[in-house]
Amino acid sequence: MQVNFSNNILSKSTSKCLITASFSKNKSSFSHKNFSSAELKKVNDYLKRYKFNSEIGKLTHMTDLSKNIDDLFIIGKGVKEKYNERGFLRVVDSICNCIKNNKISECAIDFDSLILKESDVLNLVRLMSIRLNNIDYVYSQTLSKIKKESFKPKKITLILNNSNKLKTKLISNYNIGKCIAEGVKIAKELGNLPANICTPTYLSTFAKSLSKNNSKLNVQVHTEKQMRAMGMNCLLSVSAGSKQEAKLITMKYLNGKKGDKPIILVGKGITFDTGGISIKPSNAMDEMKYDMCGAASVIGTMNALASMKAKTNVIGIVAASENMPGGMATKPGDVVKTMSGQTVEILNTDAEGRLVLCDALTYASKFKPEIVIDIATLTGAVLVALGKVASGLMSNNSSLAKEICKVSFESHDYVWELPMWEEFQSELDSNFADIANIGKRYAGSITAACFLSRFTENYKWAHLDIAGTAWNEGSNKGGTGRPVSLLTYFVLKKAKII
Ligand code: BES
Ligand code: MN
Ligand code: ZN
Repeated sequence: MQVNFSNNILSKSTSKCLITASFSKNKSSFSHKNFSSAELKKVNDYLKRYKFNSEIGKLTHMTDLSKNIDDLFIIGKGVKEKYNERGFLRVVDSICNCIKNNKISECAIDFDSLILKESDVLNLVRLMSIRLNNIDYVYSQTLSKIKKESFKPKKITLILNNSNKLKTKLISNYNIGKCIAEGVKIAKELGNLPANICTPTYLSTFAKSLSKNNSKLNVQVHTEKQMRAMGMNCLLSVSAGSKQEAKLITMKYLNGKKGDKPIILVGKGITFDTGGISIKPSNAMDEMKYDMCGAASVIGTMNALASMKAKTNVIGIVAASENMPGGMATKPGDVVKTMSGQTVEILNTDAEGRLVLCDALTYASKFKPEIVIDIATLTGAVLVALGKVASGLMSNNSSLAKEICKVSFESHDYVWELPMWEEFQSELDSNFADIANIGKRYAGSITAACFLSRFTENYKWAHLDIAGTAWNEGSNKGGTGRPVSLLTYFVLKKAKII
């Protein structure tokens, strides 16, 4: 897909398809500086006749408008007073659907009609680019007949008034969005792949394959034997019931200043979560193939950063394992010793995410991190608290939490903070080990984070519970690629690249 920026819609007749957006018009009519009065009259007559619906995201299509325009699509922006960045994204989604459904291979998008004065145009370009570059994603790896064809537009012109002045910045921010989109697609695809294909070994091979295209990306994989030697017994207690070997994947991207401490991203990579001996009920258990979406988001983010050659130091760590019942599986009540030396009473083998993460978080401290963020489909409870809109955020550092929250609104990959006060910690008391791996009935997302907090005392840390946001259910079932946008934005902000 070729994208360029231009000042004028009707200048070069490269594209005869124009997509623009308009507010609800009660009194006034559709107007556009680049349209002749004859063209405007035609548009407005049409809109009157067909009762133009300018409800936000609604699409109106006109044909044969003039010699310059064969197709005009007008997207509703709703009422002016309510239009904001969320509205902008609804319009952008509608534009992407329009391009996809009508298989538009060349068009001009009137970006001026979409932007908000109070917003940062460069961010809007990034957000638009992420979505435009996701139009062609369809899952197909395990289908023998293609159901939905992938469609990719050939050429898109974004019309922007002062685009000449901003040209290089527009292009570089468009490119940032494009790299994020590639990362999002990687995360979607890894999530969607079934667990008989996407095993811990598959994830490690995949991560290695990415490093082949990026000389600055260095991938190292630890085997179970090596993990045992490092004392990662808690992680290994999760893979004990599985025939698939657990893997610890380390992806180093050190392209910043030599002395700068790295940001570390740690992903939960349970390639299938049966619950183990504390086995899950069978309905919707298939969705537990998505229990590696934290890992997928780390891999996607690392690839996004490496492909845009960001000047920054980031390390991705993936704790990959299957959680299965079996003759060698961990049993409720078993006690294991973590890499940190603390012992854990595993009262519920279905609370396995924290068991793999705690050792990965201890391992992370070896790299002397600036900040560590873990990303995990950790608890069903986060769906009760925040639904499928926001990921849960918990942190041992309030300014870090604030920063992540702020970036989440900029990237529109939302998070919301839950408190992690010391009052919750006693839920994890055990008579037989230093810590129990579950709390009681309530505040399940917070007690899970409290468990992790016992392993993150040496650095600034934040935890993202993405159990609600990593995939969609129903007819739209599939990975969302979240929170690759948020993580990439966060790293780029920290490095002052955006
Ligand atoms: N992977 C699940 C969390 C999950 C559940 C994600 C449903 C998405 C949808 C996690 O390993 C798990 O099983 N958590 C338990 C913890 C409990 C045993 C304390 C849960 O949430 O029920
Ligand atoms: Mn589980
Ligand atoms: Zn799980």
